[in-house]
Amino acid sequence: MLSEIPVDLDIVKKEDIDKELMRLGMIAELDAVNLYEQMASLTDDENIKSVLLDVTREEMIHIAMFQAVLMDVDTEYLKVLAEYSMAKG
Ligand SMILES: [Fe+2]
Repeated sequence: MLSEIPVDLDIVKKEDIDKELMRLGMIAELDAVNLYEQMASLTDDENIKSVLLDVTREEMIHIAMFQAVLMDVDTEYLKVLAEYSMAKG
């Protein structure tokens, strides 16, 4: 099951729109990763499995791309990531 857009973008404050867009992009790409991995697990055809897993990896790159931009536009998110990283060691 794919995620639904969790917010009404029409009511998002202008200063938050870029953060929301990057988060939505990440949600969509995470859904794609889950979908393609599940599809890959359903087939016995090695070529189809390989294509699906290759596409899964591409979607992971897309997640990273959105996250990189999110870290630029959401300083609080970047701060939380840094704090978590420090705590984790
Ligand atoms: Fe994608």
